[in-house]
Amino acid sequence: MHKVMVIFGTRPEAIKLFPVINALKATGGIGCRVLVTAQHREMLDQVLEVGEITPDHDLDLMLPGQSLDVLSARLLEGIGGVLDEETPGRVIVQGDTATAMIGALAAYYRKIPVGHVEAGLRSHNIYHPWPEEVNRKIIGTIADLHFAPTDVSAGALNAEAVPEERIFVTGNTVIDALYWVSAKIDADPALASGLSGIEARFAGKKIIGITTHRRENFGDGMENIASAITEIAQRKDVACIFPVHLNPNVREVMNERLGNLDNVAMIEPLDYPHFARLLNICHLMLTDSGGVQEEAPALGKPVLVMRETTERPEGVTAGTAKLIGTDKARIVAEVTSLLDDEDAYSAMARAHNPFGDGKSSERIAGIIKDGFAK
Ligand code: UD1
Ligand code: UDP
Repeated sequence: MHKVMVIFGTRPEAIKLFPVINALKATGGIGCRVLVTAQHREMLDQVLEVGEITPDHDLDLMLPGQSLDVLSARLLEGIGGVLDEETPGRVIVQGDTATAMIGALAAYYRKIPVGHVEAGLRSHNIYHPWPEEVNRKIIGTIADLHFAPTDVSAGALNAEAVPEERIFVTGNTVIDALYWVSAKIDADPALASGLSGIEARFAGKKIIGITTHRRENFGDGMENIASAITEIAQRKDVACIFPVHLNPNVREVMNERLGNLDNVAMIEPLDYPHFARLLNICHLMLTDSGGVQEEAPALGKPVLVMRETTERPEGVTAGTAKLIGTDKARIVAEVTSLLDDEDAYSAMARAHNPFGDGKSSERIAGIIKDGFAK
């Protein structure tokens, strides 16, 4: 039995890895172990529950307002300890968080091979997104199996001279998660019925779904976003549903600036079924999230991306996503255009699925298994 240790710590990693864990568990000859760092706590636990994942190890290391330094140091020591105890034959990490980067580093220090899910995303700017661009480049240097979601991300790895035989275009596992949760909601609509009060309150209005959390948007960026939402929410035909990230750098500004607006529902982070519901009922998404840039195109929802660059150009190329930055006037103008110009709206509101077919996790599990046979 070959032991594979899957390491993750935040909400998006959990969403994109629970289908991989389930696929590995269904693959003969592999013993899949799960280590969560709990870099996130409540937001991670929401996904573990929905994804039906029981971790074998939980470092429980989140601290309120944690700095990158303290978080990274604690991650390295904690993950290293578990790897020494478990001695897996392979480690799997996903994306570009501190947990993913330090997980890869801890494995490298023990010469354990690393597989990288969602490999090859590049903005080519080390400060946008910060610190994720450097995190994923470090993981790319260490990994020996690179699971690139698309040809674009595979091309970025080619350009960095990663050997061709180590790059696998698998699709993005977020689409597996989205399809899986959508089927679950179809079978049991009560799983996503918790928004019904807000939906009734905003009946007849166009819903704008909002999320924001990027570190490079802290400060002026968050203030500009709050000002733009305040102006947009003056319209009577519009309502905003804003599940607010638990990072205090986001919450303090947003709750203070937007907490008392009639047309804006400031709510706690939604579990994945409820967020999928929001994606389905919204007219458009306004976000700086990575994952939402992948999910919205799959559902044909226009997504306005409050960032200067993106490592996910596929949504922009497909026409469903648009990069708009964090200038207040620009955000208001872009949202207004989608609300008032039907042609502009219908040009963006078309379902495209550049990020995968929902079978990425099976492919990844198969490649991991084949890797042991070599
Ligand atoms: C992290 C990742 C980012 C990813 C994002 C997804 C790093 C450096 N950043 O950013 O790449 O896009 O997660 O959401 O890895 N908090 C809670 N409860 C939670 C989660 C967070 O209270 O369940 C609060 C805590 O005060 C915590 C703070 O948010 O210290 C920041 O969490 P952290 O993981 O360091 O950064 P994020 O901004 O969430
Ligand atoms: N998400 C969620 N509940 C929320 C907001 C987001 O389940 O209240 C999901 C969303 O569907 C996506 C992921 O969380 O799959 C994105 O996480 P986040 O924006 O925190 O991180 P990023 O993708 O930017 O790293």
